[in-house]
Amino acid sequence: MLEGVAGPVLDVGCGPGRVLDALARRGVMALGVDPAPAAVAIARQKGCAVLQRSVFDRLPGTGRWETILLLDGNVGIGGNPCRLLERCAALLRPGGALVAEVEGPGTGWRSCRARIERERETGRWFPWAVVGCDAVDGLASAAGLAVSEVRRLEGRWVAWLEHDGMERHACA
Ligand SMILES: C[S@@+](CC[C@H](N)C(=O)[O-])C[C@H]1O[C@@H](n2cnc3c(N)ncnc32)[C@H](O)[C@@H]1O
Repeated sequence: MLEGVAGPVLDVGCGPGRVLDALARRGVMALGVDPAPAAVAIARQKGCAVLQRSVFDRLPGTGRWETILLLDGNVGIGGNPCRLLERCAALLRPGGALVAEVEGPGTGWRSCRARIERERETGRWFPWAVVGCDAVDGLASAAGLAVSEVRRLEGRWVAWLEHDGMERHACA
């Protein structure tokens, strides 16, 4: 997924920094953003640069990021993919790329609630969304992004979106 990814990269929902770490090994400059304190602490222990914030908070480099990552289903963050893609488009430089991991064909898209479960422990519900590769085109164009490629990589689906240089405010 990281092949050809150019910096500076913003890894949205970076969690404990697995991808940031992999980018650092490739010599690609990257910043992570994630509101979860425990995940941010782990990422920082690895030496990754991370802001403990939501992607919807104020972030540096608006309109100047070369690549934005929404991996591990992170296109679901916030439960409104149109709003999330619009936010990412505002952060990207015109012509920049958004790499989003999506679900397979026939999924469409839907908003839902999700929670983390582990044995008998359950977390609180949070808004989430699921986006299939068949639905990403429509969501992307409303946000000023165009799908340039969708690929299946070892059973996972990844969409490459490009910023068309136009500002959109189509999402509530
Ligand atoms: C599916 S996990 C992804 C984990 C990570 N990419 C990894 O390599 O392990 C989703 C992540 O999104 C983060 N997240 C949730 N809401 C967010 C928001 N509004 N802005 C940025 N990150 C968010 C969560 O804290 C969580 O770490």
